[in-house]
Amino acid sequence: MRPIVVTFNTGTEPVTGSRRRRPNFFRRRPLDFLASLPAHGDLVKIKLGPVPFYALCAPDLVHQVLLDDRTFDKGGAIFELVRIVGGNGLATCPHADHRRQRRLLQPAFHRDRLPAYARVMSSEITAMLQNWTEGQKLDVLVTVNELTAGLATRTLFAADLDDATFAELRLCMHDVMTGMIRRMLLPWPLLNRLPTPGNRRFDQARRRLRQYVAQLTADYRHSGVDHGDLLSILLAVRDENGQGLTDAEIHDQVFTFYLGGSETTAPLLSGSLYLLGRNPDIRERLHNEVDTVLAGRIAEYDDLPYLDLTRRVLMETLRLYPPGWLFTRVTTKDVELAGHRLPAGSNVVYSPHIVQHRADLFPDPECYDPDRWHDDRPRLPRGVFTPFGSGARKCIGEVFALTEATLALASIVARWQLDPLPGAHARLAPRLSSTPRSLPMSLRERVSVLV
Ligand code: HEM
Repeated sequence: MRPIVVTFNTGTEPVTGSRRRRPNFFRRRPLDFLASLPAHGDLVKIKLGPVPFYALCAPDLVHQVLLDDRTFDKGGAIFELVRIVGGNGLATCPHADHRRQRRLLQPAFHRDRLPAYARVMSSEITAMLQNWTEGQKLDVLVTVNELTAGLATRTLFAADLDDATFAELRLCMHDVMTGMIRRMLLPWPLLNRLPTPGNRRFDQARRRLRQYVAQLTADYRHSGVDHGDLLSILLAVRDENGQGLTDAEIHDQVFTFYLGGSETTAPLLSGSLYLLGRNPDIRERLHNEVDTVLAGRIAEYDDLPYLDLTRRVLMETLRLYPPGWLFTRVTTKDVELAGHRLPAGSNVVYSPHIVQHRADLFPDPECYDPDRWHDDRPRLPRGVFTPFGSGARKCIGEVFALTEATLALASIVARWQLDPLPGAHARLAPRLSSTPRSLPMSLRERVSVLV
């Protein structure tokens, strides 16, 4: 399957009305391209190479599609790509398998589990900040990626992994992710089968990862100990017939959670740090909040209710730079959408980026304004703000991710002021998630301000 994300000449064509082509706009500036679509209509047909996709540009259509996951099932190029590695995990499985999987996995994200996850998060954040020094120049993108990837690994496998195993697991995950992203960007799928060093590394990492997860699963099963981590839960869950997950299913879920846990929270955090650096007035207000709540210490689970501006900063980043930027669905039967008949097998695209940049829904949409998210503001209509999706396929890790991002952001700004250096720019690189391209920033210690 050819990747749809960057490659093809793309024009836009309103479903009704005249053709208007804009060659290569999608390839050059995919996010701007998406944000431009609502000007053409509520449902816009885009041609990616020979394949037509129907892009949802109106909130009620987004809501209709996400709520009807039987008719608009998971499918399309992005899911096929993730399936290469993630198999039939929760994020990629078809509707037919979804309800069982979701029921089995929901306990892993129950609110009762969060304080334990938050302890792991606070301790990983502490370890990261211990390495920061006054005046240091940091690529925030790299640092934050390491934090979220490490954290995803630790929450998945809390058992006492020795450092070498932990590092090896991280490396496998990293190689698999890099290989996947390369595949996504390659215009010629055949190249994926050639024995190039990159392809060999990808295949080896996939094999090693499978072996590691199988070994860990066997160890956990043998010991019978609940380590309070995700793998322990995956082993413990049973359906109504008393059936648990098979080893293959466990592998797929481990990868799915790792992908969900690392590839999305990192852009949210790095995007927030960048935007705060560009908006010193908001940053100062945030400093005041964390000084009052934390007085320079690392944030913990019980601090969350008091970190209101931190929460709003993250919400506004999710609006402006939603990490998940493109999702596809395939219609399982003929269906009517916005008054148009889509035959079975049609490709539908939704992107939070499209609706969340509409000026009629978010006045001055390019302005970074966390005050849009005050609790007393009227509730947004459904389908307007969907950085975590909606309906039955809504992100299972939403609260987990927001907990992690809040703890990390508050702890970082409690101690450090980060300023963008030349080369830091907001132009997002849409990969698996959309993320700044590079983010060099300088560190200035703040704790002394407090004493
Ligand atoms: C800022 C962080 C995150 C964002 C923006 C995000 C976004 C999303 C979105 C938009 C979807 C729906 C995709 C679709 O409709 O096709 C989704 C689904 C999912 N996410 Fe997240 N996610 C985040 C963090 C996480 C974390 C931390 C985990 C796990 C530890 C996770 C695991 C999943 C899973 C398993 C699904 C599939 C749910 C299902 O189909 O039942 N995500 N996520």
